[in-house]
Amino acid sequence: MKHLVLIVSLLASPAFSQATEFESWHEHHDRATPIWVLPKIHAPENMQWTVPGMPGEIASGRFYEPENCSGCHGEIYNQWKGSMMANAWKDPVFIAVYKNYISKASSKAEKEEVAMCSRCHTPSGYMADSPGRYFEGELTPVDQAGVSCDVCHSVAASAGVGNGSFILQPGDASKNEYGVKYGPRRDSRSPTHGTAYSELHTRSELCGMCHDVGHAHNIMPIESTYSEWRTGPYNTGDPETSTHCQDCHMRQNPEHAATGSTTLPDTPGFAAPEFLGAKQREHVWQHYFIGGNFVVTALLGNEQAAKMAQHRLEHALTVEVLAPKDGLNRQSLGTLRVKVTNSGAGHYLPTGLTYVREMWIHLKVTDAKGEVLHESGYLDEAGAIEPNAAVFKTVLGEGGEERKPTFFLPAAAQVLHDYRIRPKGYTVDDFPFYIPEGVAGPLSVTAEVNYRSAPQFLANELLGPDAPVLPVFVMGSVTSTIELANP
Ligand code: HEC
Ligand code: HEC
Ligand code: HEC
Ligand code: HEC
Ligand code: HEC
Repeated sequence: MKHLVLIVSLLASPAFSQATEFESWHEHHDRATPIWVLPKIHAPENMQWTVPGMPGEIASGRFYEPENCSGCHGEIYNQWKGSMMANAWKDPVFIAVYKNYISKASSKAEKEEVAMCSRCHTPSGYMADSPGRYFEGELTPVDQAGVSCDVCHSVAASAGVGNGSFILQPGDASKNEYGVKYGPRRDSRSPTHGTAYSELHTRSELCGMCHDVGHAHNIMPIESTYSEWRTGPYNTGDPETSTHCQDCHMRQNPEHAATGSTTLPDTPGFAAPEFLGAKQREHVWQHYFIGGNFVVTALLGNEQAAKMAQHRLEHALTVEVLAPKDGLNRQSLGTLRVKVTNSGAGHYLPTGLTYVREMWIHLKVTDAKGEVLHESGYLDEAGAIEPNAAVFKTVLGEGGEERKPTFFLPAAAQVLHDYRIRPKGYTVDDFPFYIPEGVAGPLSVTAEVNYRSAPQFLANELLGPDAPVLPVFVMGSVTSTIELANP
């Protein structure tokens, strides 16, 4: 029962620590379970309606270090190593936020609740209930390897979608027993480890175990990447014809972004040396796992992963400026409209940590002499986006009528605002501005869509005086010329 309470209070805040003690996991799933299950006919065969893995269930030392797998899966290892998942525990941004939350916990129970963050950021450390996961002692190297090879490939089943609903069955590295590695192939044979086909691994539901994060106490969605995909057009309802997370994120290579606006190329080859029994495959699943994070990847020394993240961001959307056919008039209010289409992402734009990420339109109108007539979405001196800009993001709020915005997850209880772009959908934003008389025409309009990992003030708050200036990346831009009519 203690375990059930723990998982129910996953991510729950100290402020909400009076978590309901549920009689049964299933009885109340409709009310407050942060893990949910697909109907049987839509679920992968190894998604089960059961309780997920709990801390302390898997002794420390059972998981293999990724370096062990690299002996035979060297290329896959090199790709994975630069990913944010390999660095989910080493990520200084995560550590800063998590330490801050731990330090604010005032009792052991509260600390245990906050330590739920470790469930996805060091799944093996979490399963071993290692005190290192709340900074009391060291984590083992494999625990520090975050979402490691052996974590993903020991997933025998899932208990559903969201909040780390994995069920892990590793071998035992301390006894040199590899156990079974679950993967996408029915005909895979390895000299050292068992292999088993797992339907879960071929579908978005594998990623959905962690890429759907809900606030345990109030089930408020914090991250909904999987749900966005599930309700979007890349999910056709038939797993065979759907475009899964893997189809975009495990087909990217340094030359090819692999998004909804590009082809999704095969990378033929071997997943291990042929003399060990590996077979030639039409496509070997790539393990770069690139998202939008070009800042931390570069900070951790992986320039290639950072470049690939930018490549991905550049293939996520298109921008258009919509102006009246006959141009705009002097001495009147003109309105330009900017249309942004999510042409490349299988989920909303942006997705993931959307109350932190910033994506916005930077529009600049200049006259024929180069003078700026109107600008929206510029950064002020403190590095903040000016208040009238069109920003795509979510805003979380504390509970209660006051609707007070917050960045402090434990206290968050409601989504106050959500303005983002659905997969294959678009938004249109109006930019009205006054055109005085005597302006030299034609006007030149540049509209860019920018991406930044976090607001500058948040970085300053988290990292103190050493905080870097967070770079802004242009995801897409367009320049057009607009004639000015009289007067
Ligand atoms: C001694 C070499 C060797 C080592 C070490 C090794 N593997 Fe493998 N592995 C193989 C070979 C060979 C295959 C077969 C590849 C094929 O099917 O083409 C394989 C296949 C796999 C598959 C595919 C299974 C399927 O059914 O789809 C996975 C997943 C896998 N290995 C994971 C791992 C992980 C994780 C580790 C580290 C804990 C690891 N391997 C260590 C040689 C090795
Ligand atoms: C986030 C989870 C995740 C991590 C971490 C991960 N893999 Fe995989 N791996 C997958 C998935 C999913 C597939 C199958 C994709 C599909 O079929 O759609 C796969 C496929 C494989 C395959 C079979 C490739 C093929 O095309 O036959 C091997 C071998 C493998 N992984 C080894 C590794 C090794 C070694 C590591 C660590 C260096 C690793 N994986 C890390 C999720 C992961
Ligand atoms: C065990 C939990 C877990 C599973 C399973 C998982 N992820 Fe992740 N993933 C994470 C965590 C945690 C991070 C964030 C690490 C960080 O930024 O500190 C992450 C980050 C990522 C990123 C980088 C995001 C960015 O901002 O650049 C991508 C892309 C990604 N995952 C894709 C996938 C895909 C595709 C799958 C399924 C094949 C998957 N993940 C399965 C936990 C998981
Ligand atoms: C049609 C292609 C496509 C599919 C399918 C897809 N993605 Fe993405 N993903 C993208 C693109 C393009 C980006 C870059 C834009 C961005 O960062 O939002 C991205 C970014 C991300 C990010 C980084 C978000 C950020 O900026 O912090 C994560 C995490 C992620 N995807 C996870 C997933 C998961 C999990 C799935 C499946 C549920 C999935 N993706 C399915 C194309 C896809
Ligand atoms: C259910 C799985 C899960 C849990 C639990 C979880 N996270 Fe994450 N976390 C993720 C995923 C997936 C991402 C990647 C999303 C993205 O990049 O947009 C992520 C990304 C992050 C990032 C962004 C890192 C960066 O470099 O931009 C921070 C910070 C973070 N998490 C903090 C936390 C904290 C603090 C907790 C506990 C309150 C927590 N996470 C609990 C899955 C989880």
